[in-house]
Amino acid sequence: MIITKKILRNVSLTAHPVGCAVFVKEQLAWLEKQPKVGGPFPKRVLVIGGSTGYGLASRMVATMLGKAATINVSFEREPTATKTATPGWYNTHVFEKEAHKEGLFAKSVFGDAFSLAIKEETAALIAKELGQIDLLVYSLASPLRIDPVTGETYRSVLKPIGEDYQALSVDVSSGIIETAVIEKATDAQVQETVKVMGGEDWQLWIDFLHEKKLLADGVKTVAYSYIGPEVTYPVYREGTIGKAKEDLERTAGELNQTLSAVGGAAYVSVNKALVTRASAVIPVVPLYIALLYKVMKEKGLHEECTQQIYRLFTERLYKNSTVPVDHFGRIRLDDWEMRDDIQGEVERRWNLQKEGTALIEGDLAGFRDEYDHIHGFGYPSVDYNADVDPREI
Ligand code: NAI
Repeated sequence: MIITKKILRNVSLTAHPVGCAVFVKEQLAWLEKQPKVGGPFPKRVLVIGGSTGYGLASRMVATMLGKAATINVSFEREPTATKTATPGWYNTHVFEKEAHKEGLFAKSVFGDAFSLAIKEETAALIAKELGQIDLLVYSLASPLRIDPVTGETYRSVLKPIGEDYQALSVDVSSGIIETAVIEKATDAQVQETVKVMGGEDWQLWIDFLHEKKLLADGVKTVAYSYIGPEVTYPVYREGTIGKAKEDLERTAGELNQTLSAVGGAAYVSVNKALVTRASAVIPVVPLYIALLYKVMKEKGLHEECTQQIYRLFTERLYKNSTVPVDHFGRIRLDDWEMRDDIQGEVERRWNLQKEGTALIEGDLAGFRDEYDHIHGFGYPSVDYNADVDPREI
């Protein structure tokens, strides 16, 4: 079939297998060229949510820096003769083929990471193939979670708390500035978002693997968080997702107690705002990212997921025996994003935007290109008119 880009409300419904292969191979080629500073790097790595975005980057960085054996757990749609798979399915297959060429172990468990069945399947795979793990990266971004005990479904929402919120945003397809009005969350929605995106499931994974003695001495675990500038506080840090992130950050403290038994440590890393499948659907965020990208590119400071995680490994997690953290114990990879000069310039440009007119002094093209790339589109080297079997990679 001819695979075309189909986007509905900032969500891409298709992915291109040939383009996803280009995406993954480009990231690996970039990593190949980087100095392998720091270490020793982990040799056996489990990534929950390792098929796209920050999780995929974590898997690739672990492989390229430490020649790690990796297991990914992610939720994917399989391809059929007439329907494309999720980009994560393609990325995973391409990545694993490349790892196998190097003689490295790389396998995935596809299914719901929140479920007990998938935890058990993953534990069995670790026991059989790796013995134990040295690093667990928790990088899930999910709209819902089915509680493994009660069977109840919880949904995460991206809403302000306390009052409705109105702010400028940008329509990514037209490039026109618009006003986004977001209704405040109910108390139940706040709690549900914490259930889905907070730390409970991270803790369940660690407890489960710890009980089965699958966590190696000195094991590390890291989950990803975001803070961002004040302009996005109502919809992010002070909104429903922010409550979930606070819970995630608190959980790291609790995990440290569990992990002290094996000399391990838990971290939350606050990362930079980037275009991923998860972030593109957060209201207001596309406008912020378009402005941020432009400013950071002008200053030579722009990074994508792979560059951020390379810095996480080489300059934070595996640099010295002490991992540098802020007052709250968090690793900060958003240090460049949050620099005063960057934020000052983003704010100045934000104030130039007017509803109903085109975005100015922003990098919407960069936003769109990156969004295309993470779905395998927009690569000049790929023939998008070619007839492709979506099941082949
Ligand atoms: P993403 O959408 O690219 O990746 C999410 C991953 O979770 C995918 O591998 C997906 O298959 C997997 N997943 C979702 N539901 C699942 C389920 N039920 N079972 C198994 N796997 C499932 O998202 P992104 O942006 O990389 O987010 C990862 C983490 O990084 C999140 O915690 C997010 O809040 C955080 N973060 C993201 C930032 C951004 O700007 N994108 C900035 C800072 C932190």
